[in-house]
Amino acid sequence: MNKTVLITGSSTGIGMETALFFHKKKWNVVATMRNPDTRTTDLHAIDDILKLHLDVLDNKSITTAIEAAIEKFGKIDVIVNNAGYGLVGAFEASNHDQINRQFDTNVFGLMTVIREILPTFRKQQSGTIINIASIGGRLAFPLYSLYHATKWAVEGFSESLQYELKPFNIKVKVVEPGPIKTDFYDRSADIMKKQGLTAYDGYVERAMKIMLGFGEKGVHPRVVASTIYKAASTNSWKLRYPVNTQGMLAIRKLMPDALFSGLVRTVITK
Ligand SMILES: NC(=O)c1ccc[n+]([C@@H]2O[C@H](COP(=O)([O-])OP(=O)(O)OC[C@H]3O[C@@H](n4cnc5c(N)ncnc54)[C@H](OP(=O)(O)O)[C@@H]3O)[C@@H](O)[C@H]2O)c1
Repeated sequence: MNKTVLITGSSTGIGMETALFFHKKKWNVVATMRNPDTRTTDLHAIDDILKLHLDVLDNKSITTAIEAAIEKFGKIDVIVNNAGYGLVGAFEASNHDQINRQFDTNVFGLMTVIREILPTFRKQQSGTIINIASIGGRLAFPLYSLYHATKWAVEGFSESLQYELKPFNIKVKVVEPGPIKTDFYDRSADIMKKQGLTAYDGYVERAMKIMLGFGEKGVHPRVVASTIYKAASTNSWKLRYPVNTQGMLAIRKLMPDALFSGLVRTVITK
């Protein structure tokens, strides 16, 4: 029997490439997205990929999509929590709604998906949860303070969760991409701006140029899809799967805080 994967945020980028990758590997694919009817994606040309509405901010849509996927394919083997975006800019320029939406999407939405699938995984005595965190869940760069806060939350949550789920044969995996060429840096980004607040303008302009430069040098999202596939297919209980981190995690590990922060400051102000 073919295995089944359900992916959130499949309309573009990593989510869409992951759906295509698993489909090529002959998995049953449930590609969920906010607007499956109006948003035309590469997936819409493939009839046997099940496209379903799922907005991680809408609990009902999560329950409905999981039920529909199980009804169609009999079970779900792997959940990929991919939906997410970056809130970017100086923290002082943020507002309450932006902060809430960032955490609701990247953290609480992911948690709701997991809580909804757990009874099924427990009954099956098997299942794999793959959370797409980020290199930014292990280190931090300027102007992404709130985004980093969400990804660090996903890291801590996942690391703890793995222990209580192991007795039920449920695996937890964290995929940690470095820069990937997707809509993340433009269409999907939420920019923090506050009327009348100009004190950060010079810094934001300088730092954003560098940060967006990383994004431009990013690799194709297919690279992440293949890592997600590896994490989904292995018998190993390994938790973390860094991908295209360009040595940054090793550097971060080796350098004391002060040295690493100094390095980041130098790169941003050069
Ligand atoms: N690109 C990178 O460099 C990078 C690096 C590290 C981690 N990541 C992480 O990778 C994941 C995927 O991002 P990406 O790079 O592929 O960017 P992307 O192309 O912008 O994809 C983000 C996806 O999330 C969906 N989404 C946003 N809010 C949602 C919601 N409330 N409910 C359901 N779906 C929602 C978007 O749907 P719509 O099409 O409807 O907007 C889109 O499909 C994110 O969690 C991101 O933080 C990306």
